[in-house]
Amino acid sequence: MGLQASGKSTFYRERFAETHEHVSKDLFRHNKNRGRRQAQLVEAALSSGRSVVVDNTNPTPEDRVPLIEHAREHGARPVAYYFESETRDSRERNRGREGRARVPDVAIYATAKKLVPPSRSEGFEEVYRVRISEREGFEVLL
Ligand SMILES: Nc1ncnc2c1ncn2[C@@H]1O[C@H](COP(=O)(O)OP(=O)(O)OP(=O)(O)O)[C@@H](O)[C@H]1O
Ligand SMILES: [Mg+2]
Repeated sequence: MGLQASGKSTFYRERFAETHEHVSKDLFRHNKNRGRRQAQLVEAALSSGRSVVVDNTNPTPEDRVPLIEHAREHGARPVAYYFESETRDSRERNRGREGRARVPDVAIYATAKKLVPPSRSEGFEEVYRVRISEREGFEVLL
């Protein structure tokens, strides 16, 4: 979870693409009920014993409740990666994206307004903080 253009999809490709399925609302952006579609895909992966990364902003605890529940139901470990990014930095990186990948600035502000960082009290077994470091790459802190 984290603001738009905070590095979530890049991090997935670098760290998890080989081992985890990818569920992202960007991959079914025309679906009317994206929450339900996301849940179906997560359930499908976990039902067949595959690990899964949910790559979305998921800004509020309410957004995350069903995800944690799916994990518990299937005996999987829910782990959070929270992408720390200032609105200004997200806007700047967003400006560098092209085509459909670029989102309107207003979407970044809307997410920032309701963003609540994840915590273990929600049911996550681990919560990592991820930052884009100066020398490119990512910094991951527990
Ligand atoms: N470690 C990094 N160092 C520098 N730039 C990066 C890094 N990771 C990602 N970027 C750049 O930042 C931009 C946003 O990255 P990315 O698309 O992964 O974000 P996102 O969190 O998945 O955004 P969205 O929520 O809109 O899908 C991209 O243009 C990407 O190239
Ligand atoms: Mg993305």
